Formats: sequence, structure tokens, C-alpha cells
Amino acid sequence: MLYNFDQLIHRSDTSCVKYDLRKIFFGSNEVIPMWVADMDFATPDFIRDAVLDRATHPIYGYTFRPQEYYDTIVQWFKRRHHWEIKKDWIQFTPGIVPALNLAVLAFTNPDDQIIVQPPVYFPFFSAVRHHNRQLVYNQLLHTGNCYEIDFDLLAKQAEKASMLILCNPHNPVGRAWRREELEKLADICLKNNVLVLSDEIHGDLVLPGYQHQVFADIAPEIAEITLTGHAPSKTFNLAGLGTSSMIISNNQLRQKFKQTVEGLHIEMGNLFGIAASTAAFKHGDEWLNQLLNYVQLNIEFTIGFLAEKLPLIRVFKPEATYMIWLDFSAYNLTDEDLKRKMVFEAGLGLNPGIDFGPGGEGFMRINVACPKSLLETALQKLQQAFG
Ligand SMILES: Cc1ncc(COP(=O)(O)O)c(C=O)c1O
Repeated sequence: MLYNFDQLIHRSDTSCVKYDLRKIFFGSNEVIPMWVADMDFATPDFIRDAVLDRATHPIYGYTFRPQEYYDTIVQWFKRRHHWEIKKDWIQFTPGIVPALNLAVLAFTNPDDQIIVQPPVYFPFFSAVRHHNRQLVYNQLLHTGNCYEIDFDLLAKQAEKASMLILCNPHNPVGRAWRREELEKLADICLKNNVLVLSDEIHGDLVLPGYQHQVFADIAPEIAEITLTGHAPSKTFNLAGLGTSSMIISNNQLRQKFKQTVEGLHIEMGNLFGIAASTAAFKHGDEWLNQLLNYVQLNIEFTIGFLAEKLPLIRVFKPEATYMIWLDFSAYNLTDEDLKRKMVFEAGLGLNPGIDFGPGGEGFMRINVACPKSLLETALQKLQQAFG
């Protein structure tokens, strides 16, 4: 079966953050929204059917996650990432951002130092700051058109830190970290007793030609210091269903994390999320393969278009995710002017790079998980404003 990613779907007036909150985020309802990590593709039939099937039963009462829910996650990791996990390692959370906050609360104390690697997904910052922990920036280095980890700085910072929040693969710079890079990072964390929250929500979205390396799967001693975040929400565009997991093989860490989740009574989850997740991980391989090919073509199209028509914009080719990190610094605009120009001259809603912390100045992140015709329109508008 060939899935259709070309179909334009009207999303306004569905309480959809990406479309219906444009006025709030951009000051205009007119922009083409290419920001939040949410795809404009239809949820595949096998997931919709599972949700509809459950919805036809007239009672939506308290629900637990059955064995099949866990089995499909265990099997998914085995098939897609060759990672053997046990059902018991999977702890439900109502989202990965909540999970990061819960882990900060469970495993650190006020004033503890927590390392993040900006420019990075900005809720990592609030997960630290909201709980009065200290944010430590291990800013990524960029050499030419690639980002790397500053290991020398990390080695110093790790001496005083109690936790590192790793974005694997990395949003927004699009790196699918190599095994050797993760080994080096793990080495530093092991030596300094630094716990690692490995946010792998984009792990299924590693693009053709690259491979996702599960951080915890590098070695048993690394698994001992790691909590891995995983969800169907980015992979299958189910963010509205609030269903994700922290996978924790270390029994002590798992019990502590579980206590924190249960202490707040947020372990119930939502019954449509259970149906959707189970169907996604059971039947989703072929859809995901086709999605990744489509996204790859959109990325190549964008890179080709920009190279030809807008060569001043420097592009960081993603190895994972459907977001592209774009450097507009050659235009010499302030971040405020860059955003204003993007919204009011180009008519586009992209994420300003500065939101991702140090290193994001002069950058924008564009989401290309949309039908190619919409992407073409957006790029033409970009050319009119920045050409
Ligand atoms: C790295 C990363 N983590 C977490 C999330 C969101 O997770 P959730 O919606 O499950 O809280 C995103 C969404 O863009 C993300 O990019």
C-alpha cells in the first residue's frame, strides 16, 4: 500500500496549536505554520481505526495498559533499533516533557547542576529552571556545516553536575549522534556519576542513510545511569494523545521514578493513547518507512532550492527529524528583525533560533513535514522576502 503524504488537510478550527495559535505566537493568523514539531500528514488508517474502534464502545472509564501495549513497544525496539528491553522497564508518562520534569524532581535537589547542550529543544531549560536547579550550558560547537559536542568543556562541567539531558537525536541541529560520540559522552558521565536523561523522542525519525544509536544500549554500565524517553507522538504524529514512556533498566532508578509518577497520580494515561500507541507500534513500520522517504525528499528539495535561490542562508542538513536548522546570520539582522521579516514579509511561521538558547542567534528552524506543494509555496515566499 502506498500512503498519501501529498494530501492537504485543513487543520484550522480543530484547537490545533500549530494553526489555531498563530496569532498568539506570530501576531498574525496569515503565516504558513512551519514551526512546532507536529506534522501536517494524516494519521494512518490503522491508528485511526484502533481509536475509532475503542471510541464506539460507549463507556470511557478508568483504563489500564494491557500486556499488548507493552509487547508492541518491546517488539518495536527489537525490530527497529535492535534493543532488547523488558516490559517491566517501561514506565508510562503523559509526555516526554513531563517525564523530564519528573526525573529532575526525582533525582536531583534544588541548586544541583544539570547540563544541557544548546542550541536545544527549549523545554529542557524550563525542566531545570522551574525546579530551581542550575542550568549548565555545554554549548555545541559548529565546524563548517556540522555540529559536534564540546567534550573538553563537558569533562569539566561534569565534575560538578548531577544530571545531563541529552537530545538523541538532536533537535534542532538534526544530528543523529554516532556511537563513538555517545561513548565519549557516556565515559565522562560514568566517571563523574552524572545521570543521563536521554530524550530519544526523535529516535524513530532518523533519516535514510543514518542509524539511531540508543544511548542506553551502548553498554550495560551505561544503561545503569540512563533513563530513555520514547513515544509514538513524533513518529506517528500523536502528540495530542499524551502517551509516552521512560525506559529504565536500573531497578533502583525505576522504583524512584515510578514513585514520583505515582505520587502525583498521573500514571493513568488516556485510553485512546493506549489504543493508538499499540496500533502504531504493531503496524507502523511500512508507514514510517514511507514517511521517512517523503521527509527526506522534502529536505533535499529544500536544500536544493536554498542553494540555488537563497545561497546566503546556510543550511545544516539533518540526519534525523523533519526540522531543518537554518542560519540567516549573513543577512545581519537582529533576531527581532529576522522574526518580523519572516512573519510580515515572507508570511511564514518558523521557530526563532534564539528560543533554543545560546548558539541560536541568527538562526531559524523550519518544519518540512508537510505536503510538498505547501513546502514549495513556503519556499517561494521565503525567496520573495529574502532573495
Ligand atoms: C526533543 C523533544 N523532546 C520532547 C518533545 C515533546 O514531548 P511531549 O510532547 O511528549 O512532551 C519534543 C517535541 O518537539 C522534542 O523535540
